[in-house]
Amino acid sequence: MGPVANGGWPRYDASLRLPALTRSTTMPAPSDHEKDPGAIRDMFAAISPRYDLLNHTLSLNVDRRWRRRVARELRLPPGALCLDVCTGTADLALELASSPGAPRVVGADFTREMLRIGEAKRRRRRAASVSLVLADTLALPFADGTFDAVTVAFGIRNVASLEAGIGEMRRVLRPGGRAAVLEFAELEGRWLRRAFRLYFHGVLPRLGAWISGSRSGARAYSYLPRSVGEFPAAGELRRTLERCGLTEARTVKLTFGIACLHVATRPPEPQATPHAPPRLAAAADASSGR
Ligand SMILES: C[S@@+](CC[C@H](N)C(=O)[O-])C[C@H]1O[C@@H](n2cnc3c(N)ncnc32)[C@H](O)[C@@H]1O
Repeated sequence: MGPVANGGWPRYDASLRLPALTRSTTMPAPSDHEKDPGAIRDMFAAISPRYDLLNHTLSLNVDRRWRRRVARELRLPPGALCLDVCTGTADLALELASSPGAPRVVGADFTREMLRIGEAKRRRRRAASVSLVLADTLALPFADGTFDAVTVAFGIRNVASLEAGIGEMRRVLRPGGRAAVLEFAELEGRWLRRAFRLYFHGVLPRLGAWISGSRSGARAYSYLPRSVGEFPAAGELRRTLERCGLTEARTVKLTFGIACLHVATRPPEPQATPHAPPRLAAAADASSGR
């Protein structure tokens, strides 16, 4: 297994610096068409204190089951090394670390405030096998082929370029390693879709505003359904994974298809074809009487 860059086993370091944030006082919600990293960071920083509460309440706790499913589907080998990108408050990283085989997990995110909450949770749970680092999914500070598995839950939708994000995940995955992408999806049945849209677009932003007690909560939870609506459908996402160099992509629908888990593999590197040196080839020809 390759070493983790940055001097061995990375630890969350609050002093790790990112390029200066352009923090606006009005905290704009990211627009439909551009995912400005500064605005995305501002949004998650603003909702971070209530993020977990909002997540678990608004999903009626189903999100916990979905994360457990990610760990199950990956079937990690004992002692595996995993990376969870866009880890936020580290729920998936902590879930992976408690799965059989005692994997070591690095959780990476570019919003310091989200990581801070994750770090407090990691300490409370004494999860020594989890490390949290401040890092951009589009420029991961790890060597090629470092991890046995790379995961992302409800995060890749927010990354400025889907293909570049998946490309980075693939780069740090070892050949034969697995990537898992957990994302919301558009429901298929007409009535189910209508009912869910009503909840997602009508109820959820209001509940978000109420629970978070802030305008930023309202903005974040109206951005959520818009960003899900713009995100590629399950089939398209699977094709994107394959275009980015992952193979054997398969999709598991969760809770009537509200969320989908996509699992794919980084193909093993092609073996160099052994060519017989010319002299041996000539000898073989001679011995076969050609
Ligand atoms: C909806 S939260 C998901 C958090 C967590 N994975 C979960 O399941 O609850 C999305 C996270 O993605 C992070 N994020 C978005 N774009 C990112 C990027 N380019 N690099 C690193 N983190 C990013 C945000 O900071 C935020 O914490």
